[in-house]
Formats: sequence, C-alpha cells, structure tokens
Amino acid sequence: MKETKLGKTTLNISAMGLGIMRMCDKTPEEAAAAIDTAYENGINFIDSADIYGQGKSEEVFDQALKLSKVNREDLFIQSKVGIVVSPERSHGSRVFGGRYEFTKDYILNAVDGVLDRMDIDYLDSLLLHRPDFLMDLEGVKEAFDILQAEGKVRFFGVSNFNVEQFKMMQDVVSQPLMFDQLQFGLMHTGMIDTGFNTNVTGTVDANHAQGLMEFLRRKHVTLQAWSPFQYGQFEGTFINNPKFPELNDELENLANKYRVGKNAIAAAWILAWPGQVQMIMGTMTPAHIADSAKGADIKLTRQEWYDLYMAAGHKLP
Ligand SMILES: NC(=O)c1ccc[n+]([C@@H]2O[C@H](COP(=O)([O-])OP(=O)(O)OC[C@H]3O[C@@H](n4cnc5c(N)ncnc54)[C@H](OP(=O)(O)O)[C@@H]3O)[C@@H](O)[C@H]2O)c1
Repeated sequence: MKETKLGKTTLNISAMGLGIMRMCDKTPEEAAAAIDTAYENGINFIDSADIYGQGKSEEVFDQALKLSKVNREDLFIQSKVGIVVSPERSHGSRVFGGRYEFTKDYILNAVDGVLDRMDIDYLDSLLLHRPDFLMDLEGVKEAFDILQAEGKVRFFGVSNFNVEQFKMMQDVVSQPLMFDQLQFGLMHTGMIDTGFNTNVTGTVDANHAQGLMEFLRRKHVTLQAWSPFQYGQFEGTFINNPKFPELNDELENLANKYRVGKNAIAAAWILAWPGQVQMIMGTMTPAHIADSAKGADIKLTRQEWYDLYMAAGHKLP
C-alpha cells in the first residue's frame, strides 16, 4: 500500500483509510471482516465520527476490533466531533438536524464519549467535523491543549473547512493542523472545476473552494477524500450505476487494462493528485475493499486521468 506523509512529520500513513460511517448497519462479525480485509491490504487507518449511527458505529467498531486479528496499536484511529445531533429533528436516514458546536466543554466531552464507545485510551487524530460559524477559537485551543497534555489525542485536523477557516483556526491553536477532510471523487469535483475555470464565462467558477487544493498542497496538509465512490451527498455509488454510462465505460476500459475492478480505477484517479492525499472509503464489503486498495498501486497516465474527468461529465474550457 502506498503511503502518504503525515503533515511535515517523518511519519507515514496508508494512502487509504477505512471510514466506519456505515459500520452501524453491520454485525460485529461483518465489521471485523471489513477491518481484517482492509488491514491485509495495507490499510491501517480508521476514520470515524461521533455521530455515525449516533454513536453506534463506534460501538460496533469496538466489538469488531476485539473479534478481528488486528490490534489497536496496529491502527491509526481518527474520529471527528463538533456536530450535535438532534434525533427528533433528523430527516429520514439523515441523522443531522441539530447544530455545530466548537466549544471547549463540548469538544472535551465529545472526545471522552468517543474513547468510551471505542474502548480505547487515545485517538491518533481528532478532526473538527464541520465549521461552526460561532466557533469559540480560544475554547478550541484550550480543548486541544488539554487533550494533547492528557494523552487523549496525538494529532489534530479539520474537516469541510475552506482556506480562510483553516488559516483562522491554525493561527490560534498550538498544534499543526494535519488534515482537511473534504468530499472529493470523480463525481464530486467542485474543488478542481473551480481551478480549471478561473474567469471563464458561463462556467462553474464557484468561489466556495477557491484555491483550497493549492493551499493544502503548499502547506503539506493531507486532503482526506470522503465518499470517493458516491455521487451527490450520499445519493448512491456511481460504480455500475446505469445513470453514468460514459463514466462506467471508461472505468471498465481502464479496469481491463490494469486487471483490477472499477473501484481501483476510481481510487487511482483520486490518489493521482500530487498533494498529500488519502482516500477514505466507506464500503463494508470485503471484495470492494480489496479492489479499492489495488488503486493505490496504479499510476494512471495523464490522458487517462483527463479522460475519466470528462467521462464523469466535467468539461475543460
Ligand atoms: N467529513 C465528512 O463530512 C464526511 C462525510 C461523509 C463521510 N465521511 C467519511 O467518509 C467515509 C466514506 O464515505 P462513504 O461511505 O459515503 O464513501 P464511499 O466509499 O464512496 O461509498 C460507500 C458506499 O458505496 C457502496 N459501494 C462502493 N463500491 C461499490 C461497488 N463496486 N458496487 C456497489 N456498491 C459500492 C458501498 O456499498 P458496499 O458496502 O456494499 O460496498 C457503500 O454503500 C465514511 O465512512 C466517513 O468515514 C466523512
């Protein structure tokens, strides 16, 4: 498994991580099979959040880890906090419906909850899940300092932050922010489209992600790409989906060429970005995990990368 550097440190982490958002729907045995398959394929990074299954994913993870062949010390375990769920205001399968909260007490309590549910003594990294417009910067700084001093968290980062939010947070906290976890994949390319379409009339030059990937690359912050195989926000996978015939034809051509499945090609497309990048997959199916992992060893040609981008329906000026 290809590795990527952790910030500017000399430590490496696997270029792919297993996200456990969907682990809440699995039995501990099924979840253990997912962890074991990931580990056998070189993936030692786990991504969680306290809200996944309203805590159930972390409980299943704990039971699964005890059943699996993998030890806690073999893994780099990350979780995220900062989204407050209101079950009574959730919409269908969406568990959100509350608020975002970056305050000292909230963060400290939330991390204790994570450690308790996962039955672990420390997190390798903690991310702030979604920017809280009312964020208490000094409170976050204090919380991070306490968590680090107590040995509860080793490294810190953020998720879904834009450039200015990242800089504002980094100006205040004592620790280097190692990660920005953002939705990114063949069917979610806003951060790239913006860069291709600077000042082009009538195109998708949306300002919301302006310069974000360039900033992360320059600053050696790891981009963690979430929902790599999804289109929309959790609408479903584009892989083998008849809604995306051109993309699936192109994925299949390349899958045949490289003798892998389509997941591997979609993964290789993400990891082709020259910055520090890690792909966080959410499949719980061992065969899909194993195929996705193969993508780390595939180096697409420049033309193949652009062909996939356009087969996914994106345009170049
Ligand atoms: N920071 C954030 O705001 C944020 C938000 C969302 C998610 N995340 C993180 O990102 C992780 C991944 O998210 P995700 O689960 O949406 O990502 P994903 O890996 O893009 O999607 C996984 C889903 O796609 C299906 N799938 C994948 N390959 C398939 C194939 N070949 N055929 C059929 N179905 C296929 C999986 O089903 P199978 O299990 O059957 O393969 C599963 O339902 C999460 O676990 C979480 O850790 C972060």
